[in-house]
Amino acid sequence: MSYDVHAVRAQIPALKSGSARFDAPGGTQTPQPVIDAIVHALAHPLAVRGVQNEGERNAEAIVAGARSALADLLGADPRGIVFGRSSTQLTYDLARTLAKEWGPGDEVVVSRLDHDSNIRPWIQAAEAAGATVRWIEFDPETTELTPDHVRDALGGRTRLVAVTGASNLTGTRPDLPAIAELVHGAGALFHVDAVHLAAHASVELAAIGADFLTCSPYKFLGPHCGVLASRPELLETLHPDKLVPSTDAVPERFELGTLPYELLAAAHAAVDFLAGLAPAAEGATAPRRERLVAAFEAIEAHEDALRVRIETGLAALDGVTVHSRAALRTPTLLLTFPGRSAADASRHLAARGVDAPASSFYALEASRHLGLGDAGGLRVGLAPYSSEEDVDLLLDALADYLTAGPARA
Ligand SMILES: Cc1ncc(COP(=O)(O)O)c(C=O)c1O
Repeated sequence: MSYDVHAVRAQIPALKSGSARFDAPGGTQTPQPVIDAIVHALAHPLAVRGVQNEGERNAEAIVAGARSALADLLGADPRGIVFGRSSTQLTYDLARTLAKEWGPGDEVVVSRLDHDSNIRPWIQAAEAAGATVRWIEFDPETTELTPDHVRDALGGRTRLVAVTGASNLTGTRPDLPAIAELVHGAGALFHVDAVHLAAHASVELAAIGADFLTCSPYKFLGPHCGVLASRPELLETLHPDKLVPSTDAVPERFELGTLPYELLAAAHAAVDFLAGLAPAAEGATAPRRERLVAAFEAIEAHEDALRVRIETGLAALDGVTVHSRAALRTPTLLLTFPGRSAADASRHLAARGVDAPASSFYALEASRHLGLGDAGGLRVGLAPYSSEEDVDLLLDALADYLTAGPARA
């Protein structure tokens, strides 16, 4: 049976508000089983992790369950899954830890395409260590960031390269395995921001070639927390600042303070929910990793069909520029309206029950490089719950804006 988007939507209470949502790249709406997991965690005895009593054991089980679920999602080892407050926080912490080994003459490479959370932590850590920052550019016409762009930024003293798995502004998906090969050939470590990518495609740490990868469950139907994935052997070699009494075990060494157990329970539930979107042919008893890979194939096919429907509709409208043009990309479209502001378009859509925000979405460098300054554009993002009806509402509201909307600026 084909992907049943209405069955997915029926499980997400927030969608009952009725608006057509295209704001998923900023954060998705939450399925009931994910909400239930938070309630379940808090409605049962819960204590600091341990084995002495039920509360301690419940916390222990929640953490183990969440590590195993996120490991399945990211094709990683559960012992290499680190939880934190957000991807931004985890990237800052990792940058400070790695920078302990950097010094003058070393080079740290960031990309112009990235969200600022995969740029500024590296720049600030490099500056504190006296290391040099180099930039990977991208083509503003095609929005492609190619291995050649990366090659130009590498040198004999490159220590780390940070590149997005997919741009949250344009949807561009760089060729990560090819980039990883170049980075490792230069003797550097490769950090991938998979926050946007992991919401749209199945991810496998080793296949990507990343040494570190971050993602944020609230972008894929889960709660507001962050995840860092790496190889446990690599994490063993790193020594973040930590409290004296806290464990030095990996991955706990990287997790400062008490973990948000209820959010980890919800992150686990979100992964299970995604795995449940695999076509029935996959079988409910197949290993979760296999069901996740199959589910993302189905999600990608569903979202791509909707993206094509949007692009076809946009092509028939005058007065809109579509910036998302990379050959490989997520179903995330950045639009501007020559002579009119994207913020105005967003307001017009909101008044018609269509949520599509306008901003640079913290991809400030990318927005400026595209010639869009700090204002950015209107972002139309899809999620596993997006429907054809949503798309038609969007296209109608945009057509209305472009024809009968307020006068041109
Ligand atoms: C591509 C990308 N990277 C990083 C982030 C930051 O994630 P977090 O809010 O978990 O710090 C976002 C958030 O929008 C994002 O879209």
